[in-house]
Amino acid sequence: MQQVEKDTFILAIESSCDETAAAVVRNGREILSNVIASQIDLHTLYGGVVPEIASRKHIEKINQVIDQAVRQAGMTLQDVDAVAVTYGPGLVGALLVGVSAAKALAFALGKPLVGVHHIEGHICANYLQYPDLEPPFMSLVVSGGHSHLVIVRDYGEYEVIGRTRDDAAGEAFDKVARAIGLGYPGGPKIDQLVAREGNPDAIPFPRASVGGSVYDFSFSGLKSAVLNYLNECKMKGVEVNRADVAASFQKAVTDVLVAHGVRGAKDYGFHKLALAGGVASNTALRRAMKEACEKEDIDFYYPAPILCTDNAAMIGSAGYYEFQKGVRSGWDLNAVPNLKLGER
Ligand code: KG4
Ligand code: ZN
Repeated sequence: MQQVEKDTFILAIESSCDETAAAVVRNGREILSNVIASQIDLHTLYGGVVPEIASRKHIEKINQVIDQAVRQAGMTLQDVDAVAVTYGPGLVGALLVGVSAAKALAFALGKPLVGVHHIEGHICANYLQYPDLEPPFMSLVVSGGHSHLVIVRDYGEYEVIGRTRDDAAGEAFDKVARAIGLGYPGGPKIDQLVAREGNPDAIPFPRASVGGSVYDFSFSGLKSAVLNYLNECKMKGVEVNRADVAASFQKAVTDVLVAHGVRGAKDYGFHKLALAGGVASNTALRRAMKEACEKEDIDFYYPAPILCTDNAAMIGSAGYYEFQKGVRSGWDLNAVPNLKLGER
């Protein structure tokens, strides 16, 4: 008699930065609910994420968000097979809220607990967007805290071949946006401004290459070049065209990201490249990467913006594959702010 495979439902929790999120995911691929309580408005007042405020807001929201995720999935807590939670990297106080909630729930329900790496979650957002995508492939993860070029050998098996030496791509977007008075969060604001106006060839900002790994990134020199340019304009009394600065900066970042991503995929012989992380929402980056991949006969994957930003559905997908591999976290699971990809 043919055996019918039972569905696996993962309740996932994410609180590593400024979004309190919970989701229910079926078999690692299908989103049954994806609830995100964003704190962006709160942090905008201060021009960036204030860790203490983030932690406090997570505490206020977490139970409500979990409850909503389970209800929207049309389930009860008893119906889930395991609880997955981001335990690093991220802000320690913020992570602790999600980890504590997940531990309490899993313990009370008698369900397994699975700790998930935040970057693994970002990569797995692609599995939700593309139900047929299978490893191996190359992934470029670009977020507020990370710029990683990663070989995805198999589910849960990663090798980082390129990383940023200084600022992450999203961090550079946020800092430049602040310098030209666009405010927080900078990435989407620069993206929108450039979509309306701005000449990407107006100012020749540097495309940094660093010694060591050819796949590594460095964005602090570019950030300094933008700040120097703004200072020079101020000293000379020249009016700054903010849209041109934003467009030229964005082009400098995307040129490097596209070049490294495509080079990595080609060098290692991968015909699939998946973009991930908050910056993966960037319109110019998606367009440029798509074009470059088409030229090189590489299939290009990129999640919808709601799956690029921090969310719990991506943690539910990653959690499912870790769960299937037999990964179980103990009740001593702790937040690890600087957790490395591939470590446990
Ligand atoms: O992945 P994410 O939501 O959080 C982290 O794990 O860091 O990424 C947030 C980062 C922020 O720096 C934000 O400015 C950037 O992603 N970002 C963008 C865009 N949307 C978000 N950067 C460029 N263009 C965008 N459209
Ligand atoms: Zn993230």
